[in-house]
Amino acid sequence: MGRLRVFKERDIPELVSLCNNHMEFDRLSETLFREKVLEDPAYNPELVLVYENDNRITGFIDGVAREIHGEKIGYVKLMVVDRNFRRKGIGTKLYKTLEERLRALGMRKMRIYDVPFNYFMPGIDPRYTPALAFFEVHGFKRFADTANMVVDLENQVFDTSEEEKDFYVKGIEIRRADYDDRDELMDFIEEYFTLWRYEVLRAYNSIPVSIHIALHEGKIKAFSAHNVNNLGTGWFGPMGTHPDLQGKGIGSVLLKRCLQDMKEWGLKKSIIPWVGPIRFYSRYANAVVERVFWRYEKIL
Ligand SMILES: CC(C)(COP(=O)(O)OP(=O)(O)OC[C@H]1O[C@@H](n2cnc3c(N)ncnc32)[C@H](O)[C@@H]1OP(=O)(O)O)[C@@H](O)C(=O)NCCC(=O)NCCS
Repeated sequence: MGRLRVFKERDIPELVSLCNNHMEFDRLSETLFREKVLEDPAYNPELVLVYENDNRITGFIDGVAREIHGEKIGYVKLMVVDRNFRRKGIGTKLYKTLEERLRALGMRKMRIYDVPFNYFMPGIDPRYTPALAFFEVHGFKRFADTANMVVDLENQVFDTSEEEKDFYVKGIEIRRADYDDRDELMDFIEEYFTLWRYEVLRAYNSIPVSIHIALHEGKIKAFSAHNVNNLGTGWFGPMGTHPDLQGKGIGSVLLKRCLQDMKEWGLKKSIIPWVGPIRFYSRYANAVVERVFWRYEKIL
């Protein structure tokens, strides 16, 4: 007989194995698992559920609640059922319990995987075809596509010194952000890119700080960051330039500075997730689409 219960921290090693053995297109370390589940800014253990058969974990769902631009949205951030226990209703029990709890918290819609602030993947990789069937059966509709791009760091150099000299002459300074910039940077992000505040703050945990900025006449007008999600795996972003300074090449320099950081950290590739401006990344970093994701939504 199986039973559903709330996740406990001691389940982590078994859950990491469950994910790695039964999600054929992904790998999670224990550190990454902790980042996704326990370090979520709205971690609520009542929304993280496991299913057991004879004291062995056979299913898992990680849910979170968010308020995004005033809208209450519930998310599935991670979900997996042991291959040998599929089509027995375990996924349904986990999902339905989560949905019920998220409804009780006032959520108005559900989404899959594309969780702002802290996410593993920005939607369902359609090669997880049973997941497409599963969520469609549970009332979800596909509403968008997105992609992760990959940049080869080994065979490229990202030297921006010449461009930076040209910008300097025009009153634009480009450099790494430090703690003295933090308040001004956060105010800038709050005004133009509100949803990225949390992620950019996290970049202050990297040594050195994994944020580069452009200042025009001494004021921050653009930024790029990396190592804020899926730490240590080469994830780039977010980045943003003030609307008045877009189209002048500042973003490309800021992008390359982050890529150079990752190259110096010894990473062989960088992932540019949840894209976005494919042409920009293709042009300036020879990034190519590595994976596509389908985004699903259900109105509650
Ligand atoms: C998606 C997943 C969690 C479903 O778990 P599950 O326990 O097998 O789901 P259920 O038994 O509750 O399935 C409920 C219904 O979904 C549909 N469904 C599930 N898998 C299906 C498949 N392979 N083909 C067609 N329909 C399927 C069926 O309608 C099924 O009902 P039925 O068996 O009575 O026909 C599981 O396939 C899985 O772990 N996949 C790998 C990881 C993954 O894709 N995670 C989600 C990524 S977003």
